[in-house]
Amino acid sequence: MSNSDKDQMKIFVTGARGQLGHDIMLELEKRDMAAIGVDKEEMDITDREAVLKYIKEAAPTALIHCAAWTAVDAAEDQEEACRLVNAVGTGYIAEACKDLGIPMMYFSTDYVFNGQGQRPWQPDDEPEPLGAYGRTKYEGELRLREQIPDSFFILRIQWIYGINGKNFVKTMLRLSEDHDSFRVVDDQIGSPTYTPDVARLAVDMIQTDRYGIYHVANTGYCSWYDFAVKIFELCEKNVKVQPVSTEEYGAKAVRPQNSRMDTSKIVKNGFCALPSWEDALSRFLEEIDYGKILRN
Ligand SMILES: NC(=O)c1ccc[n+]([C@@H]2O[C@H](COP(=O)([O-])OP(=O)(O)OC[C@H]3O[C@@H](n4cnc5c(N)ncnc54)[C@H](OP(=O)(O)O)[C@@H]3O)[C@@H](O)[C@H]2O)c1
Repeated sequence: MSNSDKDQMKIFVTGARGQLGHDIMLELEKRDMAAIGVDKEEMDITDREAVLKYIKEAAPTALIHCAAWTAVDAAEDQEEACRLVNAVGTGYIAEACKDLGIPMMYFSTDYVFNGQGQRPWQPDDEPEPLGAYGRTKYEGELRLREQIPDSFFILRIQWIYGINGKNFVKTMLRLSEDHDSFRVVDDQIGSPTYTPDVARLAVDMIQTDRYGIYHVANTGYCSWYDFAVKIFELCEKNVKVQPVSTEEYGAKAVRPQNSRMDTSKIVKNGFCALPSWEDALSRFLEEIDYGKILRN
């Protein structure tokens, strides 16, 4: 894409104050690209009329949809409310994109898969979600593909963390302030993924027409237990992390055990692979300046 093409782009971002949306807005700003970021206060995605009107008036050239219901356990008791945001709301956004004839990017999840086996999931593997959140996110994928079959990006991401949200790394660090030992699940395997790395790839992709379904994650696999151990190793914190099984831990929603995702399509389609999850974690700890927090 030439500079003049880039200059003519105007990207609409939903969920702009969420964890990933925040970093996508920063990435667009860094590249001097025109962007309009909205969140629930400006545009509730479950309100069809508001969505169609707001997006039409903004007249973007592409849309990145980050807004979602992300409370996985709460979704089990409130599946319809979750569906309204993740599936129905996504359908409204896709309808607005179809009306304007613009491409749309949607973030989906490893939770669309059933977690069986050990083989990394391919983008064209058949989804079979285990819980309400995964079901509604998959329905969102289907609604998007139905509306704009020829110009969608679906990026399935997982285990994300960034500066602007509640996430596993922050929870571990917070808990370690007043606990010297805790239990972490060791039989779910996936890839912790840093939102600025996803944002960089997403903004690269949205400037192309290399549409389709992609699996996107920092490189390498680990368990939540391995991830927790690495966090404390890098922070030089003496915390005892005890490995437990998913069953022993006992969360409300069933989570896939095998969340390994094959991300090779990123490179096959001419984009840069994300760095390793360990490299990403070091950068995040630097970003939040955890060492400084400890020294003070
Ligand atoms: N977090 C993960 O580990 C993970 C893993 C796989 C995929 N994903 C997907 O990645 C995307 C970004 O996730 P994230 O962690 O950045 O999510 P997040 O931090 O929860 O941000 C989502 C944003 O959407 C907003 N939102 C919720 N309901 C809305 C509505 N009805 N209308 C308009 N906005 C609404 C939220 O506002 P409020 O906070 O005010 O509700 C929030 O600002 C989502 O599609 C998510 O499903 C996330």
